[in-house]
Amino acid sequence: MFATSTLSGSKPEQYAQLLAQARALLAGESDRIANAANLSALIHHALPDLNWTGFYFFDGRELVVGPFQGLPACVRIPLDKGVCGAAARTGRTQRVADVEAFPGHIACDSASRSELVVPLRHGDTLVGVLDIDSPRPDRFDADDQAGIEALAQAWLATLADAGGAATRDALARG
Ligand code: SME
Repeated sequence: MFATSTLSGSKPEQYAQLLAQARALLAGESDRIANAANLSALIHHALPDLNWTGFYFFDGRELVVGPFQGLPACVRIPLDKGVCGAAARTGRTQRVADVEAFPGHIACDSASRSELVVPLRHGDTLVGVLDIDSPRPDRFDADDQAGIEALAQAWLATLADAGGAATRDALARG
């Protein structure tokens, strides 16, 4: 059974603790859906004031909803739409203090007021985005951005492990 421990200290310290929990949770598993599901749940229940936490995966054309916590969401997001599309298209984290002021914002959950979307790239390949929404305006600061980006990297590292394992298996087979 996975037991969460309460986060304590400064915000960077709390994110360091959450990152350690995430690494322990993902360790030894390379299934991207399983890891995305567990990481979404970990983040959503560890951090205050969130109403949606989850993944969108790039299918080669657009973003498609993946594992998440929160209300049912928009299934497909074109890369030229929304905060998620902007993160995927630009390769840059989008930290939006007021989603209603963001051109093209897609309101999946009308409770969302601010949003943080981290692009997920494996080498040069766009894998998807990690999207976190809050009902509180201006919920996310630079510490949140750095902390969530590190958590996204921990998830991406499990793909690298999977690639390494696949390569090792192929080499072993000759
Ligand atoms: N608000 C996002 C859409 C996804 S939902 O928030 C879950 C956007 O504008 O891309």
